[in-house]
Amino acid sequence: MLQVFLIGVLLLNINTAAAFEPISTSIAVGMAAALTGFLATYQNIFYYFEECCRPEWISFNKTGLEVDLDQKLFGQHIVSRVVLKAITGFMKNKNPKKALVLSLHGWTGTGKNFVSYLIAENIYKKGMASSFIHQFVATAHFPHQSQIENYKSQLQHWIKGNVTNCPQSMFIFDEMDKMPLGLIDSIKPYLDYYETLDDISYRQAIFIFLSNSGGENIMQVALDFWRAGKDREEIELKDLEMALSLSVFNNKNSGFWHTSLIDKNLVDFFVPFLPLEYKHLVQCGMAEMDALGLKPNHTLVDQVVRDMTYFPKSEKIFSVKGCKTISSKLDFYREHV
Ligand SMILES: Nc1ncnc2c1ncn2[C@@H]1O[C@H](COP(=O)(O)OP(=O)(O)OP(=O)(O)O)[C@@H](O)[C@H]1O
Ligand SMILES: *[C@@H]1O[C@H](CO)[C@@H](O)[C@H](O)[C@H]1NC(C)=O
Ligand SMILES: *[C@@H]1O[C@H](CO)[C@@H](O)[C@H](O)[C@H]1NC(C)=O
Ligand SMILES: *[C@@H]1O[C@H](CO)[C@@H](O)[C@H](O)[C@H]1NC(C)=O
Ligand SMILES: [Mg+2]
Repeated sequence: MLQVFLIGVLLLNINTAAAFEPISTSIAVGMAAALTGFLATYQNIFYYFEECCRPEWISFNKTGLEVDLDQKLFGQHIVSRVVLKAITGFMKNKNPKKALVLSLHGWTGTGKNFVSYLIAENIYKKGMASSFIHQFVATAHFPHQSQIENYKSQLQHWIKGNVTNCPQSMFIFDEMDKMPLGLIDSIKPYLDYYETLDDISYRQAIFIFLSNSGGENIMQVALDFWRAGKDREEIELKDLEMALSLSVFNNKNSGFWHTSLIDKNLVDFFVPFLPLEYKHLVQCGMAEMDALGLKPNHTLVDQVVRDMTYFPKSEKIFSVKGCKTISSKLDFYREHV
């Protein structure tokens, strides 16, 4: 349709140009040449309009991710570092040995979905709206343990179909801790070190798992640092690795974690999210006002953030809901003051 229309416009130009001025034959010739060129590049113009699995639509912006993690993600110095390193290393490798698998852990509202969004924005031109990103939410897509066999074949079918379509697909599994037992084991082959599987290579795909498991133990470490009078930024990945392994690898109740993904070392990076403090909530609030196009009002944000709930009861350091309900609360306060 577009093709017919554009060619029509070009032909019309040639005709009118030729009819009005004789000297413009050269223009007409030029136009004809342009038309030929146009037909040759038509394919590229098509790529330009419609998302497809090509570098025009999928290319990693390292600076973009670095700037975003630095400026938009608050209070997660470990996450910023690990995620940047993981994604950069993977994306610049022309021939990765396996798909990239990240597992993001932490308390509610600390930025796990937000980080997946930032990653998506800096790889896919259409960001989260890209048709090459597939998001699965345990309670929405796989609610019944009894349907497990159906889910397994459906999930394998989807991943296979989508990676066939585009090797650089991204799969996000949300609420990993609520996945039916055994479901994630069914995708194990796609995460492993295979050259190809039924002639399909999964090695350029990215898998991101999100869960709250490990959140309490991470919080305990952050609390210990706080009580010892140490800076939050002094917490290092190695301080949290033990906390994660205790609650994630060895916890038989944490659903999918009792799988061979762990034994086989198929998860490349475990990314611990720290619980957020008052000052981070203020940052979230100010960013939210800015995003809403409102004049940042520190007094208002402070009011909202002070009304949030904090724990532990004695010290009230960490936000129970992280930054999660700030935007809706801001709306509420705005209308009621
Ligand atoms: N560390 C953060 N820095 C900046 N904004 C954040 C941060 N954490 C949360 N937010 C804001 O709060 C919103 C909710 O956070 P998000 O959905 O990422 O939480 P989550 O970790 O996925 O929580 P849950 O475990 O409940 O799913 C985000 O859209 C973002 O606007
Ligand atoms: C990458 O991100 C940076 C920072 O956000 C931006 O200025 C730049 O234009 C981006 N580059 C591309 C190619 O999109
Ligand atoms: C890709 O995944 C989606 C689910 O996100 C599914 O609906 C779709 O059928 C899959 N595509 C193919 C070609 O399998
Ligand atoms: C900021 O919010 C407070 C109340 O929350 C309000 O009284 C004040 O007028 C606001 N300031 C501006 C500049 O809008
Ligand atoms: Mg989430």
